[in-house]
Amino acid sequence: MAGQTLPAPISPGQPLTALAPMQDVTNLSFMRVVAHYGAPDYFFTEFFRVHSQSTPERHILRSIDENDTHRPVFAQLIGENLSDLERTVRELLRHPIAGIDLNLGCPAPKVYKKNVGGGLLRDPARVDEILACLRAASPGLFTVKMRLGFDSPESFEAILELVNRHDVDLLSVHGRLVKQMYRGNVRYDLIARAVERVRCPVLANGEIASAEKARAVIAQTKAAGVMIGRHAIRNPWIFRQVRELCAGGVVAPLPLSEARDYVERLYEALTDPEIPEKLQVARIKKFLNFVGQSVDPEGLFLREMRRALTKAELFAVCDRHMLAEPDKPYSLEPYPGVVARPNCEDGCGLGT
Ligand SMILES: Cc1cc2nc3c(=O)[nH]c(=O)nc-3n(C[C@H](O)[C@H](O)[C@H](O)COP(=O)(O)O)c2cc1C
Repeated sequence: MAGQTLPAPISPGQPLTALAPMQDVTNLSFMRVVAHYGAPDYFFTEFFRVHSQSTPERHILRSIDENDTHRPVFAQLIGENLSDLERTVRELLRHPIAGIDLNLGCPAPKVYKKNVGGGLLRDPARVDEILACLRAASPGLFTVKMRLGFDSPESFEAILELVNRHDVDLLSVHGRLVKQMYRGNVRYDLIARAVERVRCPVLANGEIASAEKARAVIAQTKAAGVMIGRHAIRNPWIFRQVRELCAGGVVAPLPLSEARDYVERLYEALTDPEIPEKLQVARIKKFLNFVGQSVDPEGLFLREMRRALTKAELFAVCDRHMLAEPDKPYSLEPYPGVVARPNCEDGCGLGT
């Protein structure tokens, strides 16, 4: 049924905030860490793969069933077969989800070649059928996360029209094409176009690196709020900072020592006793790739962190760079030229 109200935000009257769905990142542990520093209004799971043999992945279901962040979580699906999608929605409705979200943006070639995720943006007629199916199957909220198009924004207006036709309740727009992967300019002007065109609230997504940037993007696009992904890995305080800034407050950088505490909390949260330390360290390094963008303008932390093989080596690097001058600021925006390693070739994972 369309027209359901969205879950109440943390600060009514302030822009909405959401943690972007990220495969291998937005699991229960990471959601808890982010909630500790200042939860977003909404969480989205990483995508459930939907195909003829699929059942909802247990590790993703955990982020719904054991969600103790006190914030709602939407379940994201990626797929294109109508009966499989319908079956999966029925299965997910047995869990405490805030709603169903459809992925129309994943740029991984192995995904879009199967005509799912971002691949569907080449076929508005198929999107029409899928939206009709999911709308009918979802008694509660039904939301969509999309990019501007596949290799051009040619189908953008047509898809926005479908969003209206099928009474989508919330639309997140990553302002890039599928072919751009995670690089290149974000077209906030086209996000503004989506805001003009659709009846539901829109979340602007793509390179929202700070609360200041969120405020500027909201002013430019008139979006209802922002969805933030990689910059929330670097700065888990960002959702709280957006609320504070938009309420007229001032956002000052935190000291490096607080970022060091974040790394420790993250390490503990992501620790799995069944996983050997070496793999554990490799996993946290994927997150530190983003953290390192705010530690020092020369990128020395990043370079040394990448060489660490044990937990002791890793935290020795953290201590050298984050505790030697603990009051030094942890930059609100990434330092120019200090880049997180590109995502792995499929574009969806966090490359090492
Ligand atoms: C590691 C990683 C995994 C991602 N996984 C998903 C996903 O499962 N579903 C999805 O809709 N988008 C996924 N995305 C895209 C993000 O949700 C978001 O749209 C994109 O990163 C742009 O936002 P940002 O600049 O704030 O990171 C992923 C992005 C990254 C970096």
